[in-house]
Parts: sequence; C-alpha cells; structure tokens
Amino acid sequence: MSAVLRTRGLGISFGAFRAVDDVNLTLEPGARQALIGPNGAGKTTLINLLTGVFKPTHGTIHMGERELTALSADKRARMGLARTFQINTLFPSLTPLLSVVLAISERDGLGAVWWRPLKRNKAAFDEAHALLGRLKLDALADVPVAELAYGKQRLLEIALAMAARPRILLLDEPAAGVPEDESGELFEAIAELPQDISVLFIEHDMNLVFRFSRRISVLVAGRILTEGSPAEIGRDPRVREVYLGHGAAHV
Ligand SMILES: Nc1ncnc2c1ncn2[C@@H]1O[C@H](COP(=O)(O)OP(=O)(O)O)[C@@H](O)[C@H]1O
Ligand SMILES: [Mg+2]
Repeated sequence: MSAVLRTRGLGISFGAFRAVDDVNLTLEPGARQALIGPNGAGKTTLINLLTGVFKPTHGTIHMGERELTALSADKRARMGLARTFQINTLFPSLTPLLSVVLAISERDGLGAVWWRPLKRNKAAFDEAHALLGRLKLDALADVPVAELAYGKQRLLEIALAMAARPRILLLDEPAAGVPEDESGELFEAIAELPQDISVLFIEHDMNLVFRFSRRISVLVAGRILTEGSPAEIGRDPRVREVYLGHGAAHV
C-alpha cells in the first residue's frame, strides 16, 4: 500500500538545538498510529512540521505523490490534513451544533457570511447533526460548550476537525486533561472514525496507546527510536528503558 503521508529526513533546529532530527515517518491509509515518547521528545514539534506551523530545516514531507514541504498550513488543511491541539481551542459560549455548522461553512468558503441566518443553511445543519451523531454528541448539540464535560469538549474538537473532511487527522494528546473514565469513550470514537481516514495520535496513557493503536512510533530526543505493532513495541527492551521510572506500567 502506498503511504498517505511520508516524511524523509525531516528535521528542525531551534538555534543549535535539533528538536526533530532525521525523521522518516509514514502513515498508511486508514492508519490508527500512535506517536509516543517522553516529554520534550519533539512529538508536538513533529506535528507542527507536518501541518505547516513550522518549516523544516531539513527533509521533505509528501502527501501521496504531492510534496507539502513548502506549502502553507492553510493549503495543507485544504488538501485534507486536519489537526487538533494539546489545548482546548473551543468557543465556550457557542453550542456544539453551531460550532460544527461554522466549521462546515468555513470549509465551503462561506465563513465570511456567518451573520446570515444560519438556519437557512439546511444542508450544513444536517451534516453537522450527522457528524455530532457519529461522535455521540447529538444529545448535547444545543448545550453551550462551557457546560460540557471536558471529554465531550475534546470530542467536539475532533468533530470540528472532521468538518473539514480530512483524509489525515493528527491528534495531539486528545485525552489531555480528560478524566480517566471519559478517555476510553473518547478513543472509542476515534477508533470508529471512517476507515478511509488515517489517524496519527500523540498519547501518554500506555493503556490507551496499546488498546487503540495498530502501529506505534517511538520518538526520543527528536529521533524515531523504533516503530512497530503494539506487540513488537511492548517487548522492545529499548522502549522499556526509555519509559523506566516514568510510571508506564504497560511498556
Ligand atoms: N518554538 C520553539 N522554540 C524553541 N524550542 C522549542 C520550540 N518548540 C519546541 N521547542 C523545544 O523542542 C523540544 C520538543 O518539544 P515538544 O515538541 O513540545 O515535545 P513533546 O510534544 O514531545 O513533549 C522541547 O525541548 C521544546 O522546548
Ligand atoms: Mg507535546
């Protein structure tokens, strides 16, 4: 199978510090791939390189046959690369339904006419309801975001990313700050996203990583230490060593 996303020798330096170094990462169609590694390993920076927030100092990024390395973040988003952030980026006073409708309108180039009566845009509302249903948020469609449990807010962020109809979804710690009893539900929703979407997620909780990824890439000090199936990573002594003393019982 040909990769939907591929980096070759990707790297970025901040001054003399090489935060991401010679990374060759591939994402297959329909991937559910975890990016793990200690704090400061360069995981978020790697996602920032993939999405175009940072320009690399070394290497290339391809989406299928198309080279992305020099393209803006906007252009990459329009080509089907979507992301969520490590921190909450929602509007607290908006409802989930209106949040998703706005994201759909923006995708369709209607962002500048937001003051028009939105209810007139029935197609966008129907699509928003379907998307919220897929993420099991339909019962909360009209509740202000500020009143939602944090796990539901993170699900809504995924719904907003999905509104762009991405082919690739990059999730930076989607369960960060989510109580443990809600994080399983969050990852179940991620697992059940359409199978033609490739997902790369950063996650610290090894139980979630081993339960929901089919492939794991381990980043240490900016470099890929190793990659493999959860079973392969679970028995890799180098990965154990990296995590020893970090409280990761599963590795
Ligand atoms: N804009 C920046 N300027 C300088 N250093 C940065 C910048 N962004 C990240 N770093 C550094 O790069 C390293 C990797 O950070 P990060 O990608 O956030 O790690 P992770 O997400 O794996 O915890 C850290 O040492 C961080 O301080
Ligand atoms: Mg990070």
